[in-house]
Amino acid sequence: MNPRVLIIGVGSIGERHLRCFAATGRAQLSICEVNSELRERIARRYDVESVYPDLDAALEDPPDAAVIATPAHLHVPMARRLVAADVHLLIEKPLSTTFEGVASLQKEVAQRKRHVSVAYVYRQHPALQAMRAAIAEGRFGRPVQLVAVCGQHFPTYRPAYRDIYYANRQTGGGAIQDALTHILNAGQWLIGPVRRLVADCDHCVLPGVDVEDTVHLLARHDSVMASYSLNQHQAPNEVVLSVHCEQGTCRFEGHRHRWMWMTQPDTPWQSESFDTLQRDDLFVRQAHAFLDQLEQGAPPACTLEEASHTLRVALAALESSEGRRWKEISP
Ligand SMILES: NC(=O)c1ccc[n+]([C@@H]2O[C@H](COP(=O)([O-])OP(=O)(O)OC[C@H]3O[C@@H](n4cnc5c(N)ncnc54)[C@H](O)[C@@H]3O)[C@@H](O)[C@H]2O)c1
Repeated sequence: MNPRVLIIGVGSIGERHLRCFAATGRAQLSICEVNSELRERIARRYDVESVYPDLDAALEDPPDAAVIATPAHLHVPMARRLVAADVHLLIEKPLSTTFEGVASLQKEVAQRKRHVSVAYVYRQHPALQAMRAAIAEGRFGRPVQLVAVCGQHFPTYRPAYRDIYYANRQTGGGAIQDALTHILNAGQWLIGPVRRLVADCDHCVLPGVDVEDTVHLLARHDSVMASYSLNQHQAPNEVVLSVHCEQGTCRFEGHRHRWMWMTQPDTPWQSESFDTLQRDDLFVRQAHAFLDQLEQGAPPACTLEEASHTLRVALAALESSEGRRWKEISP
C-alpha cells in the first residue's frame, strides 16, 4: 500500500508538489488548504478526494507523511504538531524565519524517529549533483573560492509577489530568505558550512514592496572564500555557481541545465548537459527521494540540521546588512 501523503498549502509550490508526487505513482494524496476557493479548484483539477480545510481537520486521521508548503513562519509550528502525531515530513524552504522552536523540533524528530527532509530542490539537480561529486572526489584539487552570480525577474515568475509571503520578511519575504537561501544551501552542500559572513542588501527596484530585492554577501566556508550576488529584478534568469579549485574551475549553470569545467588556461570548457530537464522534473526527483527515505531509509536530501545551518546563515545575513558588520556563525 502506498503511503498517505498530505500536501499542506496548495498555493504555487504546494500545487507543484501535489502534481509531482502524483507523477511518482507512489503516494495516496490528500490536501489541506485554508483558502476554500483554491482548495476546491485544486481538488477538482487533480481529482483529490481527501480534502481538509485546516490542519486540525487533517490530523483527525493523521497521514503517514506531509509536505509543508505554507509560508515559512508557519513551517516549524506545523512541523511540531505533525511530528507529535507521528507524521514524517518534507518541509519547504526556508526552514523558518526565526530560531523559535527549531531546537525543540530537532529533539522531537529524534525522539519519535521521524523521517524529515527540507525541500532545497537544487540538491536534486543532476548537473549540481555531478559537480558536487567531482569536487568531493578531488578531481580539481582543493576548493579555494566560490563565486555565485544569480538573478531573475521575480514579477514575471510570481506576478502576485506583492500579495504573498514575499512582501514581508516576517513571513519569509525578501531576496535573502526567499531566493538567496537556495544558493547558500547549495554553496554549503558543495563546499561545507559558512563560518562567517558580511552582507549588504537593499530594496532597489520591485514596485509595491519594500523588502530587499538585491543582495551582496561575502563569506568564509572554513578556509574557502565565497561571494554571492543576487537580485530579483534583472531580465536574464541565471544561476551561476563557480568553484575555483587549486587544479581547475568548475561551474554550475542552472538556467542552462549544465555544469562545466576547465583545468588548463586557454583551453575550451568541457561540459555535461541535461538539456531535456524541466522544472517539474526536479520536484518529481525530490518526491522520489523523500519516498525512498520513508520506505527504504535512504538518507534525507537535506537534513534538518543542514537546513537549520542555512537558516542561521540567512538570519546572520539579514542582521549583518543592518550594520554592515561581519558575523560569526556558530557551528
Ligand atoms: N522550492 C522552491 O522552488 C519554492 C518555490 C516557491 C515557494 N517556495 C516556498 O514554499 C512556501 C510556500 O510558497 P508559495 O509560493 O507556494 O506560497 P503561496 O502563497 O502561493 O501558497 C501558500 C499556501 O498556503 C496556504 N496556507 C496558509 N496558511 C495555511 C494553513 N494554516 N493551513 C493550510 N494552508 C495554509 C495559503 O492559503 C496558500 O494557498 C514558502 O516557504 C516558499 O518560500 C519554494
